[in-house]
Amino acid sequence: MEANTGISITHLQGPALTASVDLLAFTVFGDPSKDATFKAVDHALGGVLADVAKSESFDGKPNQTIVVHTHGKLAARRVLVLGAGARSEFNNATIRDVVATAAQMANKAGAASVGFVLPALSAAREAQLVQMAAEGVLLGTYKFGRYLTSDDQKRPMALKSFGVLTDLKGKKPSASQLKAFTAAVTRGTTIAKAINHARDLINEPAAVVTPAALAADAQAIAKRHKGSVHVTILDAKKCAELGMGMFLAVGQGSEQEPRFIHMTYKPAKKAKKRVCFIGKGITFDSGGYSLKPSQAMEDMKVDMSGAAAVISSMEAIATLGSDYEIHVVAACCENLVSGRAYKLGDVLTSMDGTTVEINNTDAEGRLTLGDAITYARTKIEPDEMFDFATLTGACMVALGPYTAGVMSDHEPLVKSWLAVAERAGEDMWRLPLNNRLRDQLKSSIADMRNTGDRFGGAITAGLFLKTFVKDTPWVHVDIAGPASVSSAKPSQPKGGTGFAVASIVEYATKH
Ligand code: BES
Ligand code: MN
Ligand code: ZN
Repeated sequence: MEANTGISITHLQGPALTASVDLLAFTVFGDPSKDATFKAVDHALGGVLADVAKSESFDGKPNQTIVVHTHGKLAARRVLVLGAGARSEFNNATIRDVVATAAQMANKAGAASVGFVLPALSAAREAQLVQMAAEGVLLGTYKFGRYLTSDDQKRPMALKSFGVLTDLKGKKPSASQLKAFTAAVTRGTTIAKAINHARDLINEPAAVVTPAALAADAQAIAKRHKGSVHVTILDAKKCAELGMGMFLAVGQGSEQEPRFIHMTYKPAKKAKKRVCFIGKGITFDSGGYSLKPSQAMEDMKVDMSGAAAVISSMEAIATLGSDYEIHVVAACCENLVSGRAYKLGDVLTSMDGTTVEINNTDAEGRLTLGDAITYARTKIEPDEMFDFATLTGACMVALGPYTAGVMSDHEPLVKSWLAVAERAGEDMWRLPLNNRLRDQLKSSIADMRNTGDRFGGAITAGLFLKTFVKDTPWVHVDIAGPASVSSAKPSQPKGGTGFAVASIVEYATKH
């Protein structure tokens, strides 16, 4: 499960006009006639670029592009102009989509080499832009093609080398500039590879990505990072010994055995703190006896996106290094129907002793996560813990399909998390953990029940989890919407997105 490792990202120096590449690409913020690079290239091409811009009504808006052949008038064979919108609205993460578009257009045009002129925004932003440009190349050329058999689909990508031209004003780059560039490219490619790895895990059918397959993936990562990453896999028997009654109940209707994954990263020096990332790992969610209608079930192989994100992030964290001791936890199983499946009305005993009456077997994620949280809290004792879960349709109703819902009672932790997500370019928005909604979870025969009413569904799910968190600083991230998308954007093709990886790695390695 490896994608697009074939493109090298390099640092190109010298003026853009002399870059000898198949495709020279640059951004224009609004009116092209006011852009210095545009004017210089247009001049070299004898005014063709301005003519095309005019006839195609190109005015530098996002998603607008122009391509022209240079017919030997420039060292580059083709020129690609990418609209980038207003300079003031251009945030660092936008570059992912701009660069993804450039990479895709290069592939379509059969261009093996690209020279991309990095927009000069400010010296302080350059490293971040280079990092996100590197991410854009790999995210934009990602394709889940394993099951496509036509020759057309199997053709290798044209793009081999993506060169980033930084504005050095004719000067040779200093050693520290070169070092910063290389570090930013390494960071970007490492993060993008982890995101694409998560995408592969999500896009694979549930018949392939079983709980055991996720465990094997975690083990493979530990093997590639011997010495810093260690993994423990608990089987059903071990989980029963620990009293994980909620987790085991969800998985008991499936022929696929559950697996509880616990990965640990230890830094070489004494860790500054211990952080735990927990992911929901339902490899398929049929809803159980509260069966989902077919349309709602169709995409439910994505219900392990949280697990995919935390497991994949560990590889990037180990590659880049962290000052923290990082733990990854994922309770993985399938939610199916059978003669052995858990039922409505069952009363489960969780790992912390809380009893739960089941009034909906489709609210399974909170059950598996509840025991994962208790495991993390009591066995790992982290200073901070985060969970990532495709938990509720209600969260998508509240925030739309592209934004994650963030819930927490810990002000400093949630604030620093949201700042990290913003920096990583992932849309997250806080929802209140309103305690008044807790009444919805009252049961007359057990300590609580697993679902409340329709209104506030994302929040009651968060409140359910909070029961198991106790006093550990904790942030809950509901990724039901952004974990997979049905409409693509350049850096995000349809299907699994690998959402949360960028923020997790940012938090663990640059915080
Ligand atoms: N895995 C689903 C949530 C989901 C929905 C994820 C759509 C991705 C896209 C979760 O297990 C679920 O079924 N939640 C129920 C909760 C309800 C029964 C309280 C839901 O949202 O309908
Ligand atoms: Mn469900
Ligand atoms: Zn689910």
